[in-house]
Formats: sequence, C-alpha cells, structure tokens
Amino acid sequence: MKIMLLGAGGQLGQTLLRQAPHHPNHQICAYTQTQLNITRLSDIERMVHHDKPDLLINAAAYTQVDQAEKDEETAFLVNKEGAKHLALVCANANIPLIHVSTDYVFSGDNTTPYLETDVAQPINVYGQSKLEGERCIQALQPQHLILRVSGVFSPFKINFVKKMLELGQTKQTLNVVNDQFICPTSAADIANTLLEMAKALSSSKFCAWGTYHYCSKEITSWFEFARVIFDFARQHTSLTLHTLKPIPSEHYPTPAKRPRFSALNCEKLRRQFSLSQPSWHHSLPQVILELLRS
Ligand SMILES: NC(=O)c1ccc[n+]([C@@H]2O[C@H](COP(=O)([O-])OP(=O)(O)OC[C@H]3O[C@@H](n4cnc5c(N)ncnc54)[C@H](OP(=O)(O)O)[C@@H]3O)[C@@H](O)[C@H]2O)c1
Repeated sequence: MKIMLLGAGGQLGQTLLRQAPHHPNHQICAYTQTQLNITRLSDIERMVHHDKPDLLINAAAYTQVDQAEKDEETAFLVNKEGAKHLALVCANANIPLIHVSTDYVFSGDNTTPYLETDVAQPINVYGQSKLEGERCIQALQPQHLILRVSGVFSPFKINFVKKMLELGQTKQTLNVVNDQFICPTSAADIANTLLEMAKALSSSKFCAWGTYHYCSKEITSWFEFARVIFDFARQHTSLTLHTLKPIPSEHYPTPAKRPRFSALNCEKLRRQFSLSQPSWHHSLPQVILELLRS
C-alpha cells in the first residue's frame, strides 16, 4: 500500500517513519510541514495527483495547547481547515484518510474512560479546533478513520518525558500536578497501530470506517508518571532533582484548562482490529534510554 504521510517532522510523524520498515507491505511518501503545508489546498491536490497514494495519514497538527489560547486563528487554520482540505482532496480522489485526534476533545468530567459515543465538549481552544477538524472529516469523507490518542511521548520533538528529563538534570525541586489523569502512550505504539489499521484497509471487504480510541491501559496522574520517569532515569544517570512534589492544578495555572480525566476506552478498536492496549510501563524505559543517550 502506498501511504502519503503528512506532518512527518512531528513526534508521531518521525516515529511512523521509524516504524515503517517493520511493516514491509507499506511504501511511505512523507512530507514535513515545509514540504507540504496542510493549510494550502492546491498544494495538497497537486501532491496527491502526483504521488497517487492508496491512503493518506495525517499526523500534522497545531499541538501547542497553551499557545492556542492566544493564537486561536492558527490553531483552527491547521486543525480545522487543514483537516477539511485533506478530507476534500481524499474524497475527490477516492482515497481513504486516517487522521489523528486527541483525548482533549473531552471535558474531563467523566470518571470512567471515554467511549467514542460520549459527547465531546472541549474545554480549551486546541481541543475545540481538533474537534472541528474531526467534524469536517466526518462530513466530507466517509472513508475515514479517526484515531484519538492521549499523552504522546517519544524521543522526538517536545513531550512530557523529554521535558521531565531536562528538568531533572537542571532543577533540584519540581512540582507536578497530581489531579489530572491521563493514559500516556508511546508514539511507537500509536505508529504501529496506525500501520496495522492501514493494513486492514487494504482488504476489499473493509467497511469499519469511523472514530476509534487508542491509549495505554494504565491510567495515571502527571505526578505519578513523572515519579516513574525519575525513578527509572536515576538508575541510568545522575539527576540534580531531589524533591518531586505533588500539587493540585490550582497551584499550576496555565493559559489553557486541561481535562481532569481523559482516559479513553479502547474496546471498539480491540473488537474491530484485534489491537490491544499497550502498556506505558513497557514502552517508557526504551524512550528514556534513547533520550539519555542523545
Ligand atoms: N502530543 C500529544 O501529547 C498528543 C496528545 C493527543 C493527541 N495528539 C495528536 O497526535 C497527533 C500528532 O501529534 P504530535 O505529538 O506528533 O505533534 P507534533 O510533534 O507537534 O507534530 C505535529 C507536526 O505537524 C506539523 N505541522 C504543523 N502545522 C502544519 C501545517 N500547517 N501543515 C503541515 N504540517 C504541520 C508540525 O510541523 P513542525 O515540525 O514544523 O512544527 C509537526 O511536525 C496530532 O494530531 C495531535 O493532535 C498529540
């Protein structure tokens, strides 16, 4: 299957490229933002016409959650209009679209993992812009798969694990919120899942289009996640950090509000694609070791 990948310079994009050789049935033509900007409809049309892919995977997004509060225009331009452009081009060219979305489409008021059928009510601009992007795709290209993921970490770009390691090597004390619950998920697990979903699409009988959830099976707070990161890192390097303190979100104000609880129920994906939830405990050590080596 020939896959056109957009957002190839991001943490998920780079990880998809790294995992692709493990999925030899796929051939990938990848584009970073500089090479193909999803806000430019005619550029996408031109490249799709040129490459003639069997499938498009969109890993491109505006992901700066706090920055989005004051740069709403760009967040919507990329996450809504960009997604809309991809849906239009894919629908016209009769190419399926796999799009990545976020747990932040939910308000966080649930106390059990969110189902795909739960009402999405984002509480920040980033979540709203991603939800609008999902809606454009659902309206314009029936042959779509939207994969909502959570707390992505990898050795690439900016993410919580990388930030913690940097802080652990420069700070002596650190406060981390202990009342926001997430399911951290490695980009490698997400990439493999996306490539498995792509494989399923190549069957002529495939008809399970729609929205799916994917995240690690262990729910944790950012504080607990940080504690595990530092416990493991300390076994392999020296840290300046000696005190990690749990704090409530009120003591760490940020421009964007975050959902208090955004675990995702992944049962639909398991039933439809026979893909099980990964464990962040399993994926984390490898990412930390790679970051410490770099
Ligand atoms: N990170 C998380 O914790 C998280 C959590 C839940 C869901 N997600 C979702 O997962 C997906 C992948 O996110 P990620 O963590 O890989 O984010 P990322 O590292 O920020 O990567 C996003 C990529 O999109 C590119 N991009 C931005 N605007 C673009 C445009 N107009 N045209 C083309 N490319 C553009 C960026 O380019 P530059 O490299 O030039 O900036 C970047 O390479 C996104 O859909 C995101 O919403 C992420």
